Amino acid sequence: RAGELALAEMRRKHNAPLKLLCRLAAEAVLSSPSGVLPHRDIIGQLPGQVLRTSGGARLLLRRPSLDEYVLLMPRGPTIAYPKDISALLMMMDIHPGDTVLETGSGSGAMSLFLSRAVGPQGRVLSYEIRDDHHSLAKKNYRHWRSAWELGHVDKWPDNVEFILKDISTAAADMKSVTLDAVVLDMLNPQCALPVVHPSLKQGGVCAVYLANITQVVDLLDRIRSCKLPFLCERIIEVTHRNCDAAETNCSVPYIARPSHWQEAHSAFLTKLRKFRPLLS
Ligand SMILES: C[S@@+](CC[C@H](N)C(=O)[O-])C[C@H]1O[C@@H](n2cnc3c(N)ncnc32)[C@H](O)[C@@H]1O
Repeated sequence: RAGELALAEMRRKHNAPLKLLCRLAAEAVLSSPSGVLPHRDIIGQLPGQVLRTSGGARLLLRRPSLDEYVLLMPRGPTIAYPKDISALLMMMDIHPGDTVLETGSGSGAMSLFLSRAVGPQGRVLSYEIRDDHHSLAKKNYRHWRSAWELGHVDKWPDNVEFILKDISTAAADMKSVTLDAVVLDMLNPQCALPVVHPSLKQGGVCAVYLANITQVVDLLDRIRSCKLPFLCERIIEVTHRNCDAAETNCSVPYIARPSHWQEAHSAFLTKLRKFRPLLS
């Protein structure tokens, strides 16, 4: 339907997929490297339909999944990648109904996954210091929700509060909340820990997304020197090894093996558990 998001997928040389995202509008056209496809040809089709572009290429049309949307939506700062987000959600053991704090909102990728994980009874508090990132995260969230509502019976929950504020100045906000979990994806997560830890429930997890291992060392050093009540339970890197399966014209029907091009490093994920020191 007009207003919904559509994902067009085509196969290029060596079977490499190309994914194009658009919001359907009656007068618009989808441009691909192999010609155009008017949106009016897509509107009214069921997801999973294959259509041809003006240049004769085949496009498979369907609704994007959430991970495809966040990879293709407009970006300000780098997003937390879906492969890492799923590991972070597991680290924090998030349940429907939970209250979770994230910093920073960035482009809003993590916020959307948190929104889905905590569900309509849950709450996400998303802090962002920069006005432009705050606006973009809200816009990406709004676009996903409005497109979702056109294609589904259930509404997407309106459960993310985007807050334009430096997290290190948010101590007063924290007095009125109890957090089931915290996730930090920002340059200097050390500055957030003293502010958020009093509101994190005892035994709760603060998961931290950092690009460099030296940043992880700085984080742990700050926890030690400031005697913050966190134990480092795990530091992981999530690697996916992509494989290709190519048809052949010889006796074996397929050759399947790791792709020549692999995704590079994205982040180190650190799991911090809040504890209560021994009673003396
Ligand atoms: C890498 S981005 C986060 C990306 C986000 N997780 C996503 O998936 O789209 C880091 C964000 O943290 C914000 N940030 C950095 N320091 C901050 C602070 N002290 N308080 C709030 N936000 C902060 C930055 O402006 C930036 O937008």
